[in-house]
Amino acid sequence: MGNNIIVAIDGYSSCGKSTLAKALAKKLHFIYVDSGAMYRAVALYFLRNNIDLKDPEQIAEALKNIHLNFHSRDYQTHITLNDEEVSDEIRLMPVSETVSAVSAIRAVRKEMVKQQQRMGRSKNIVMDGRDIGTAVFPDAPVKIFMTADPKVRAERRFKELAPKNPDITLEDIFENLAHRDYQDTTRAESPLVRAEDAIILDNTDLTPDEQLLFALSRVEPFL
Ligand code: DC
Repeated sequence: MGNNIIVAIDGYSSCGKSTLAKALAKKLHFIYVDSGAMYRAVALYFLRNNIDLKDPEQIAEALKNIHLNFHSRDYQTHITLNDEEVSDEIRLMPVSETVSAVSAIRAVRKEMVKQQQRMGRSKNIVMDGRDIGTAVFPDAPVKIFMTADPKVRAERRFKELAPKNPDITLEDIFENLAHRDYQDTTRAESPLVRAEDAIILDNTDLTPDEQLLFALSRVEPFL
């Protein structure tokens, strides 16, 4: 790794990682990388092509045919899957329901981690996900592990998704989050766990500005 600065933000689903990561990247003029969007785009490809998650050959073949790219505009995630903009579709329930299973596959993780490490080779970046401080950038100078009350997380996600998904209920979201927390923390491959040197940020009662100030104070010594 060169002299570039990497800020690794990990934590549970829907606890505001991307809100913090985007705000931090904007403030510091760093590049923001949403690693979850990459797993979501892979899950979308698998869904569309009926890839059998238990068939290593199909998976290996599919991974060869998946080309992901980020296009940064206003620090929002714009991701393309084989040149098609899929930023909205990867947030819908079919993808949310299958992405944890897809992200638990070793071959998928290996490929995503390789691409993520390449992105952090020479640029200052803020990357959010589940294994950024543990597996992708274990030497990152700043590691933040985010958490928040599960009910508060479900309410926040509901507000975000309801306008585009009129049939969705708060209960659906709560269950999906609980299920993903369970899968993400108990899977064999790089489970979600706090890196020993990560600081915990519980934002249940924090405003976005308060959490940004907290994170900035952690990065400033490295600037
Ligand atoms: O952050 P998110 O909810 O968009 O992530 C979608 C899924 O991808 C989540 O269920 C866990 C997985 N994920 C992962 O395993 N490792 C990462 N670095 C990022 C996401």
